[in-house]
Amino acid sequence: MALIALRQLLDHAAEHGYGVPAFNVNNMEQIHAIMQAAEATDSPVILQASAGARKYAGEPFLRKLVEAAIEQHPQLPVCLHQDHGASPAVCLQAMRSGFSSVMMDGSLREDQKTPASYAYNVEVTRRVVDMAHAIGVSVEGELGCLGSLETGTAGEEDGVGAAGTLDRAMLLTDPEQAADFVARTGVDALAIAIGTSHGAYKFSRAPDGAILAIDRIASIHARIPDTHLVMHGSSSVPQEWLAVIREHGGAIRPTWGVPVEEIVRGIASGVRKVNIDTDIRLAMTGAMRRAMADRPDEFDPRAFMKAATAAARGICVARFEAFGCAGRASRIRPLPLAALATRDAAGGAGLQRAA
Ligand code: 13P
Repeated sequence: MALIALRQLLDHAAEHGYGVPAFNVNNMEQIHAIMQAAEATDSPVILQASAGARKYAGEPFLRKLVEAAIEQHPQLPVCLHQDHGASPAVCLQAMRSGFSSVMMDGSLREDQKTPASYAYNVEVTRRVVDMAHAIGVSVEGELGCLGSLETGTAGEEDGVGAAGTLDRAMLLTDPEQAADFVARTGVDALAIAIGTSHGAYKFSRAPDGAILAIDRIASIHARIPDTHLVMHGSSSVPQEWLAVIREHGGAIRPTWGVPVEEIVRGIASGVRKVNIDTDIRLAMTGAMRRAMADRPDEFDPRAFMKAATAAARGICVARFEAFGCAGRASRIRPLPLAALATRDAAGGAGLQRAA
């Protein structure tokens, strides 16, 4: 089965009222875990790679790993998505590399630390949409800056995250501005700011509506019902994995993530793509620490990697099931990207809807 465009996959999710987890990948074990979980649950897959992942693994390695995953699981639709593209040039490189979807994060300047002006965000995102739609690749934009409503700070993951303290208006996406942004750029999906942030340290207590603005999703969705909403920073930071890490020598401070049931509420309000990286990192780290402590005589790293893969697989199965993805893969037939391409890129008519 060929790669699927994000647009086609999320159109299906919208039509049937479910959400798709987008898991970050850096290496073979993570890809194995996600694909095994998708196979076990018959779920469509979004594998996303950040610039940090491409630096870590090397771009040809990542591409080949994804090709191998598709070859081994030919019945599963797989979207290969670039997470947090810092510039049109970065997005173009991903498209050349064969990604079926790119994120242009124009909420931050190219350094991915300095909050950008609205005009800059519109300009760079529009440019990426023009290029991507000409070849059937989908585009995710971002409006508002990810960051904590408790502290006003963004946190940082793989070099991405606003520096300094942000005011509340930047930390919550405005529905009216979202409608204007989508009209000006033609994005297929929009990442919104509702108080989530990247990494393990999202909330200093179990979040309530004051620090996790799930209700805002419905008002944004009402203004842009045809644009798929994306929740970044959506790891749930499982307390049980934090306990395993601490019991085996790790030092993770008290912290809370986005509860799965809040994400499910978000999906009911229009979220279609849910970004998850940290949960897989925590589960793999916990499993490796435990395996090393339990088997001090073991010297084959594959034993630890196998434990890590199984732990990541457990996270992925649980998210596929909770978000309503299970049982959907066999109902989707990916269209070739060429069939989705706009005929006149300069006209910027937007991606044609999948049949
Ligand atoms: P987490 O750090 O919550 O897993 O978020 C990942 C993410 O949003 C990647 O873009």
